[in-house]
This record gives sequence, C-alpha cells and structure tokens, in this order.
Amino acid sequence: MKLVEIQEGVGTFLVPESNINGHIPRRSDEVFFNFHQEINRDFSVLALRAYGNINSKSDLRVCEPLCGSGIRGARYALETPTSSIYCNDINSKAVYITQKNINRLPSIIAKRIQLFNMDCNSFLQKLNAIDLVFDFIDIDPFGTPIPFVQNSIKMVTLQGLLAFTATDLASLVGLYPRALYAKYGISHFDTRIGNVHEIAARALITGIQHTGLILGQSLIPIATLYHRHFVRCFLVRNRGVDTVINQTGFIHLCERCQARYLSFLGENKTNCPTCGNSDELKVGPIYLGGIQNSEYMSSMLLDKHLLKMGTRKRLVKILPLMIDESSLDIPWSFDIPKLAKKIGVTVPPLTQIMKILNETGYKCYKIHYSGTSLKTEANEAEICSVIRSLKPRS
Ligand SMILES: C[S@@+](CC[C@H](N)C(=O)[O-])C[C@H]1O[C@@H](n2cnc3c(N)ncnc32)[C@H](O)[C@@H]1O
Repeated sequence: MKLVEIQEGVGTFLVPESNINGHIPRRSDEVFFNFHQEINRDFSVLALRAYGNINSKSDLRVCEPLCGSGIRGARYALETPTSSIYCNDINSKAVYITQKNINRLPSIIAKRIQLFNMDCNSFLQKLNAIDLVFDFIDIDPFGTPIPFVQNSIKMVTLQGLLAFTATDLASLVGLYPRALYAKYGISHFDTRIGNVHEIAARALITGIQHTGLILGQSLIPIATLYHRHFVRCFLVRNRGVDTVINQTGFIHLCERCQARYLSFLGENKTNCPTCGNSDELKVGPIYLGGIQNSEYMSSMLLDKHLLKMGTRKRLVKILPLMIDESSLDIPWSFDIPKLAKKIGVTVPPLTQIMKILNETGYKCYKIHYSGTSLKTEANEAEICSVIRSLKPRS
C-alpha cells in the first residue's frame, strides 16, 4: 500500500495514497481515511480542549477504539492535554499505518499512545476487566455507533466525555423507519415537523441515551455537529436516569392549525394547545432538551488553537450558529423553502424573514444544520404570513 504525507492540525500524517484526491472513501478500502472528515477531527480536537479547560483537566485519558489510520488519536496526542491514549482497530493494515504515524511523533508524545488490534467491543471489555477508565472515548465507526455505545459508557468516568459519529443518515432522517426504530428507538418520524437534520441529530442522541438509561446513566449532550454525510455528538455521563427521561417525549404538529407543541414521557396525549384539535403528526420518543452547550461552543470559538485548523473558515461560521441554537429552547426548526412551497410562493431571502420576525419581537436564528432553515419562537402561520408579505410583486 502506497502512503502519502498530508498535513492536518499541527501535524503531518501518513495515509493511503488511494484515499486522497477526490476518492470517495468506502468500507472496502484497505485502510479507511476520509479526507472530508477533517472538520469532524478539527471540531473534536476543539471540543476536547474545551472539555479540558472547562473541567480544569490537563491529563486527559483518551480512548479511540476505531482509529483507522491513527490520524485522530495522533492529533489528540499533539493538540490536546492528554496523559494517555489507547488506540485500536480491527484491521491489521490500519494498525500498521497507525504505528507508523505514532513513530513520527516526538518521542515524548508517542510514548503516551498504546495501540491494539482487536474488535472494538472485545477491546473495551478487556480494558474494563483491568479496571481502566477514560476521560474521553471517541467512537468513529462506519454507519451507526450504537453497537459500541454500551461498552463505551462502562469505560468512561463520571462526568467523562463521549463522542459518537453516525453516517447512517438515511435511517436517521427517517427514510428507513424500521431501521430508525431498531437502532434509535424512534417510532414516529413525520418529516413535516421541521428541518430533518436537527431531528436526525436528536434521534442519534436519543438512541445513545437509551443505552445509557439501561445502565442507569444520563448522557447529556454538550455539542452536536451535522455536516454533509455525518452527524457527531458529544455527551457527558451523569449518574441516574431522571435528567434524560424528564426531557424525552414527542414533538407534535397540529394538522389543523400547524402549531408545534411538546409532550413528555408519561404525560397523557394532549390536544393542540392552540386550537384544541386532536389530529396530530408527531416525532418521538426523542430527546427534547438542549443539544448545544453555549459554554463549550464559546470556549471552542475563543480558543486560539482554532486558527491552526484547516477547516477554521467553516468553523468560525458554524460555532456562532451553534451558540445561537443553544439560546432557543425549541427542539425543531423550520425549513423555509418547504413552507414557501406549501403556500405557493417563491422563497424570500432568509435575512428579510429574520428581520421582520425580530422586529415583531420573536427571536429567530439561522442554524448550522441547513442554510435554508430557521429556528424561531414564531409559529408556522406567522412565518408563512411573513413569507407571503415578502413575495415579489408582479
Ligand atoms: C470511519 S473509520 C475510522 C476513521 C478514523 N477514526 C479517522 O478519524 O480517520 C472506522 C474504522 O473502524 C474499524 N472497525 C470497523 N469495525 C470494527 C470493529 N468491530 N472493531 C474495531 N475496529 C473496527 C475499521 O477498520 C475502520 O478503520
């Protein structure tokens, strides 16, 4: 296998030559490396640095059980305050490249990394048997992370951080309802409720949290990134199930007046609080709490290390949107072209809609999930009325 050197973050790494220059990465590649996941790795480095800062931890113990070429683990070693990093991959060729990447690090950093060649769950169980725990576990698999969630939760400290990537977006956006239920426990997903990407991110979080609940743990999201072909969430482990259960339920959409409203687990189904109608479309059971923590987002945005990232231009646009998302306690967002199509008018500029809604007294923000959606306190009828008022004159 021919290797080439690439630069990412503050380091240089070896990756398979065949995996760069526009190649679309596949599971069948000899060793998996996805050039387009640089933003995932940059974001993750910043999130772990924020975690270290906020929790005053300068000796983080990190575990990456699906390490591929080792670039991510090596970046954590170089760019975050770590004392030890355990990397693993089932593919011996991936382990071979990871070892080469470790050997290229300054020896003081390289000696913090241990490398294994095992199945992820067997690896985590083996470490569990010798009582190891980690401050941060990063699960970056093909498709869904769900098969690896249970062992990860068992291996992270209380208040420790877990990160999961999912690339099975067809299931998460509701295209395959049976797979969505099987993996994430979401039994109702009506795409008319709002922007499907935010709902997909919440579905991933819900599926992970459900495994936590089985183990008597609440996993609380602190950062959620949706980008092109993946969704990535970061969650902190807390003891007890109440925090998650109290914030899980359904998002309802009234079929008559189009109002959205929530119901929480255990509540009897309520009629629409706006018009009393009982016909509704719904999504859930799904996590309804906040999925962006502004303290983390601000710490990431203010971190000077951000300037060393290859994807800094995108990150300085995305992070402020995430901070805005965290300021509105509403688990849905409106897809403006969908609403314009529904009422039969052309789509006006989002900035004009936002200006009018803000002047009317409603908070209204763009979101990082989609360039054509808004999160706002206004209801659908009010947004549609603004869209109509902005329609081009003939
Ligand atoms: C998406 S890649 C990881 C990419 C890497 N984290 C990065 O940032 O470049 C997924 C990796 O998981 C490995 N893998 C798949 N199933 C596994 C399993 N059951 N146990 C351990 N590794 C596994 C694959 O060999 C592959 O290298």
